[in-house]
Amino acid sequence: MKTTTPTLSTIFLILFLTFSWSRAASVDDQVDRFLTCLKEEFHNYTSISSLVYTPTNSSYSSVLQYSVQNLRFVTESTPKPLVIITPDHESQIPPLIYCAKESHIQIRTRSGGHDFEGVSYVTEVSFVVIDFIKFDKVIVDAEQKTAWVEAGATLGTLYYRIVEKSPTLAFPAGACPTIGAGGHFSGGGYGSLHRKYGLAADHVIDARIIDVNGRILDRESMGEDLFWAIRGGGGASFGIILGYKIQLVDVPETVTVFSVQKTLEENATQIIHRWQYIAPNIDPRLFILVRVARVNSDQDGAYITMRAAFTALFLGGIDTLLPLVQESFPELGLVRENCTEISWLQSISYFQGFPINLPEMLLNRQQPYVGYFKGKADYVREPIPEYVFEGIWELFKEPDAKDADIVLIPYGGKMDEIPESAIPFPHRAGTLYKILYATYWSNANAQDADKILSWLRGLYNYTTPYVSKSPEKLTSIIEI
Ligand SMILES: Cc1cc2nc3c(=O)[nH]c(=O)nc-3n(C[C@H](O)[C@H](O)[C@H](O)COP(=O)(O)OP(=O)(O)OC[C@H]3O[C@@H](n4cnc5c(N)ncnc54)[C@H](O)[C@@H]3O)c2cc1C
Ligand SMILES: *[C@@H]1O[C@H](CO)[C@@H](O)[C@H](O)[C@H]1NC(C)=O
Ligand SMILES: *[C@@H]1O[C@H](CO)[C@@H](O)[C@H](O)[C@H]1NC(C)=O
Ligand SMILES: *[C@@H]1O[C@H](CO)[C@@H](O)[C@H](O)[C@H]1NC(C)=O
Ligand SMILES: *[C@@H]1O[C@H](CO)[C@@H](O)[C@H](O)[C@H]1NC(C)=O
Ligand SMILES: *[C@@H]1O[C@H](CO)[C@@H](O)[C@H](O)[C@H]1NC(C)=O
Repeated sequence: MKTTTPTLSTIFLILFLTFSWSRAASVDDQVDRFLTCLKEEFHNYTSISSLVYTPTNSSYSSVLQYSVQNLRFVTESTPKPLVIITPDHESQIPPLIYCAKESHIQIRTRSGGHDFEGVSYVTEVSFVVIDFIKFDKVIVDAEQKTAWVEAGATLGTLYYRIVEKSPTLAFPAGACPTIGAGGHFSGGGYGSLHRKYGLAADHVIDARIIDVNGRILDRESMGEDLFWAIRGGGGASFGIILGYKIQLVDVPETVTVFSVQKTLEENATQIIHRWQYIAPNIDPRLFILVRVARVNSDQDGAYITMRAAFTALFLGGIDTLLPLVQESFPELGLVRENCTEISWLQSISYFQGFPINLPEMLLNRQQPYVGYFKGKADYVREPIPEYVFEGIWELFKEPDAKDADIVLIPYGGKMDEIPESAIPFPHRAGTLYKILYATYWSNANAQDADKILSWLRGLYNYTTPYVSKSPEKLTSIIEI
C-alpha cells in the first residue's frame, strides 16, 4: 500500500476510534513494519537478529529489567517497548533510526537506566528501546590524561579503568557506580569532586552523536552549538550519543574520608545550620555531604529521633584535614580517630557503602538491591533558618517518612568559577547546596505508594519558600 486516499484514511480513523482491537492491531502493524524494515535495511539480518527482542521472546523481560533502577516503572500497567534492541556496533544504529521513523515508532535510548522517572524505557506512545548495554568500553590515555567512554559504560567501570592506568588520575562525576555515562554526562553529573573540579559535563572535550538522519557526528562536524547543548541539556533531546572524550583530573595518591553522625540530641540541627555557611565556602579539596534520616526503634519502626551523617572526602592527608576542620567547623567535633586515609577509588566504594578492599564491585552493572523510590531536588542560595529544619523533622515523624531521607550536597569552589553559560547547567555562583529529597519502599501496594509519594510532595512543598526559584534562569536557558 503506497498511497492512501482520504476516504480510506477516514475509514481507518473511524475503525481506529470505534474498536479497541484496532489499536492493538495497529501497534502490531507498526511492529511488523519495523521488523520488515530492519530485514530490508540489514542485508544480512542474521548479523543483528540476535540483538532484537520482541515481547514474545523469553528473554524480553530480563533484558528490559536488567538496567531498571526503580521498580515503580516495571509494573504490569507500565507501558512497555514494542521491541528492545541491544546494538553492538555503531553502524547498526542509523538503520534502527530510519526504520523507527518509517513505522512511526519513537525511540528511547537507555545507557545506565538511572533516570529518576524511567524516561529511558517508558513513554505513553509506541516506542522501541535502544539499549547501550553492549557499548561499555573505556579507553584511557594516561599520558594525555583523557579517555574515550562509550555511552553504556558505567561510572564504576570508568573509575576502575582510570585507576588501572594511573592511581593519581580521576574523573569528577557521580557517586553511584551503576550510573551510565550516556545519561549522566549529558545532564551535568555532580559528585564528590565537583567543588574542586566542576561537573562531568565540564570535562567533556569531544563526543560522537548520531542525528535524526543517521549521520554520525563528532565535535567538529556537529558544531559548537550542538556540542554545547549535549553537555547539560540532555542527550536524548538531540540524538543518540555513542560516546564521549573526557579530560581526566589529578588526585593525590592518598585521600582522607570520614563520617561523623549527630542526632538531634547531639545538636544536629544547629550543626546542619552551621554547615550551610561552611561546606560551600571551605577549601575546595573538602567535600562534606550530609544525609539526614529517621532513627527508628528496632521493634515497631516508630520514630525516635533524626540522625545526620556528615560524610566527607578530602583530597589530601589527615594532617592537613584535621586542623582545617577543627578551625573552620569545630561544631563537628572531628577527631583523628574518625578519619581514614585511602585511595580515591576506595573513596568511591566508601561513599557507596561497599567494602573498600573489593574494587571489582565497582565493575558490576547491577546494584545488589533495587526497590521503589521517588526523588526530587532543590537548590539553596540563602541559608535556611533553624526553625525550618525543625519543621522538616516534624514532617519526618509521620509514618510514611519511615524510609525517607534528605541529602544536602555542597556546591561552591570550582562550581562558582565556571560561568553559567559555559554549558547548559545554571546552578553555579551563588548556589550554596543541592537538596535531594528521596523516599524508598519495597512493596508494590499502590495505596501505600500513593501515601508515601504524597508525603514527599508535602515535604517538597514545605521547603519551597526557602529554596531557589530562579525563574530568570529558566527564561535565559529557553532564550539561548
Ligand atoms: C541511585 C542513583 C544515584 C544517582 N546519583 C547521582 C549522582 O551522584 N550525581 C548525579 O549527577 N546524578 C546522579 N543520579 C542521576 C543520574 O546521573 C541521571 O539520572 C542520569 O541521567 C543517569 O544516566 P543513565 O545513563 O544511567 O540513565 P538512563 O536512564 O539510561 O538515561 C537518562 C536519560 O538520558 C538519555 N540517554 C541515555 N543514554 C543516552 C544516549 N546514549 N544518547 C542520548 N540520550 C541518552 C535517556 O534517554 C534519558 O532521557 C543518580 C541516580 C540514581 C538512580
Ligand atoms: C551474516 O552475519 C553473520 C553474523 O555476523 C555471519 O556469521 C555470516 O557469515 C554473515 N553472512 C553473510 C552472507 O555475510
Ligand atoms: C530471543 O531473542 C534472542 C535474541 O534475539 C534469540 O537469540 C533467541 O533465540 C530468542 N528466543 C526465543 C525463545 O525466541
Ligand atoms: C569519632 O571518634 C570519637 C573518638 O574516638 C568517637 O567517640 C566517635 O564515636 C567517632 N565518631 C564516629 C562517627 O565514628
Ligand atoms: C548542644 O548545644 C548546647 C548549647 O550550645 C550545649 O550546651 C550542649 O553541650 C550541646 N550538646 C552536645 C551533645 O554537644
Ligand atoms: C504548601 O505549603 C503552603 C505553605 O507553605 C501551604 O499553605 C499549602 O497548604 C501547602 N500545599 C500542599 C498541597 O501541601
